[in-house]
Amino acid sequence: MEKHFAVIGHPIEHTLSPKMHKAGYEALGIDAEYQRFHVEPNHLAQAVAGLCALGFSGWNVTLPHKEKIISCLDILTPEARRAGAVNTVKILEGQRIGHNTDGDGFVRSVEKELNGFKRKKAVLLGAGGASKGIALALAEQGMQIHILNRTPEKAKILMELIKQWGGTATSGDFAPGAWIEDVDLLVQTTSVGLQGEPFPFSVQGIPDRALVVDIIFNPRETAFLQEAKKQGCRTLNGLGMLLYQGALAWEFWLGGQAPVEVMRQALEDQLNADVYK
Ligand code: ATR
Repeated sequence: MEKHFAVIGHPIEHTLSPKMHKAGYEALGIDAEYQRFHVEPNHLAQAVAGLCALGFSGWNVTLPHKEKIISCLDILTPEARRAGAVNTVKILEGQRIGHNTDGDGFVRSVEKELNGFKRKKAVLLGAGGASKGIALALAEQGMQIHILNRTPEKAKILMELIKQWGGTATSGDFAPGAWIEDVDLLVQTTSVGLQGEPFPFSVQGIPDRALVVDIIFNPRETAFLQEAKKQGCRTLNGLGMLLYQGALAWEFWLGGQAPVEVMRQALEDQLNADVYK
């Protein structure tokens, strides 16, 4: 029987997820459909009830619903509890299970390049929802986390949260500092660069062994990543995180292994299409 999946958000028209998942279903001959739905914040509970009534097997959740949807669900996985947010829902025997694949999706997207996490140093720029999911997942892998945010109080709150979950964390000013000299992984999670704007400070002096990631993928290479590349660092954009959060959601819903390379190609094709240039 055909299975139904979806992504809900507001806005949702630019989502790359339907084509990524559908390419995977096609490659493996899975009888499934993946749709996108625009859901206004004040209609979230009705939308969830509707998806359940229509027999959807699961769906992804994007902004601005990732936290609010929790009150519409029956069970949370440890990953969702850790993030305090849900990006993936599965319906199992009528139960609504909330899960989160964003943090572990990020972990998977860097693991090959980073070659081990334990006791290495990660510096995160930004302390919003994206940073929180990534920081907690990296801390669980044994990385030492340093958070820098324009609003320092938010960096401190995230630092305390990481410690509560058993991780090692510090916070500091949103500026260059001693942290640059021994960073192994630098992650840019703020919205700076989405419009092509330069990053507010330079990463000059960063060791060239550092891996530098910007979770923005459109534009493909932010000014921040361009500068890191000039310093000799390996760089990754946010496409890998998008891919692996999708692959992990796939595996949560369908079991087995998601066809990651097919899904990656579907993302690349969409980004190469005129509409995203
Ligand atoms: P997301 O869920 O995508 O992380 P968010 O929760 O709104 O989005 O967080 C946005 C992050 O980008 C925050 O860390 C924000 O810093 P503040 O906490 O100081 O607001 C950061 N940010 C946004 N615009 C910024 C700018 N112009 N300079 C520096 N940081 C910025």
